[in-house]
Amino acid sequence: MKKILTGMKATWEGLHLGNYLWGLKNFLDFSKGQDAYVFLADLHSLTSVKDPEVMRKNRKAMLLDYFSLIPENRLEEITIYEQSKITHINNITWVLNSVTPYSLMLRAHSFKDSQNKNSEINMATFNYPILMAADIIAYDFDIVPLWKDQTQHLEFARDIAEKFHKTYKCEVFKLPQIHCDKELMTIPGLDWRKMSKSYDNDIKVFEQPKALKKKIMSIVTWSETLEEVKDPENCNVFALIKLFASQEKQDEIAAKYRAGNYWYGHAKLELLEILKDVIEPFRKRKEYLEVNFEIIEKKLAEWNAKMNKLADEKYNKLLEITWLK
Ligand code: TRP
Repeated sequence: MKKILTGMKATWEGLHLGNYLWGLKNFLDFSKGQDAYVFLADLHSLTSVKDPEVMRKNRKAMLLDYFSLIPENRLEEITIYEQSKITHINNITWVLNSVTPYSLMLRAHSFKDSQNKNSEINMATFNYPILMAADIIAYDFDIVPLWKDQTQHLEFARDIAEKFHKTYKCEVFKLPQIHCDKELMTIPGLDWRKMSKSYDNDIKVFEQPKALKKKIMSIVTWSETLEEVKDPENCNVFALIKLFASQEKQDEIAAKYRAGNYWYGHAKLELLEILKDVIEPFRKRKEYLEVNFEIIEKKLAEWNAKMNKLADEKYNKLLEITWLK
């Protein structure tokens, strides 16, 4: 059995469809029958979220989404935990900091991106990949499925683990493998760019029905006439249909595009129905958990304790190796 991890920052108030597909659905399919872990990278969110109220709201929204979207039978075998509750994660990060070359961190895309944004860069943004490496190697995860713009972080985690091994002539960490699902690499937003909260082109998984319809109707499309035949492969609405509909349904809709006399508006309504079918069963569960949030807190406390214990063990080993103990 492989140990598999996925994590998401608590930077948003709930998951959008892209987060859901990249971060959760894909992970659930991939980790079937394996030892799977999902965590909230809330310390990583501190680099950008500075309002405690927002942080609190995001935490609740993200946890609610996770617990509502993971099917109940899978919830029994998956461990969900919070990074900030792991006492020694930052101590482990510090030990890793002490072997990580500055030159390696200068190459980080995440850091370079912040430099381009022209705003003040904090040290946590610079050290972000080292904490991320600790998240992974502290627990000896075998595989971390990641979307493409995150794969450099996994290479760093491997590099840092190897550097530690070389420095201390030991083998205390497992080198994690990258898994990147190409099909899921770009999920288009309302305006064809990658779906992202920062582009304001995202659709939340639990969007209220009215807002969902409004957003879907606003998806940018071409402007052929009704009669003209249309190319489903060159249409943003169809790109989303493809991600959520059965093969049969996709073929049926693609045929309508190609036959003409079919508006993009028709396709949007089909997409709306498809999304409703996918999400509605989860919405009931979300409503239940929202008023019974203590169910989530209780499970989390148990899982946080389990993960804390494992991190303590690893940290103790690191202390022995580095001669601090
Ligand atoms: N960097 C990831 C993101 O941007 C979150 C993350 C932090 C993560 N540590 C991780 C993901 C470890 C996978 C494994 O959302």
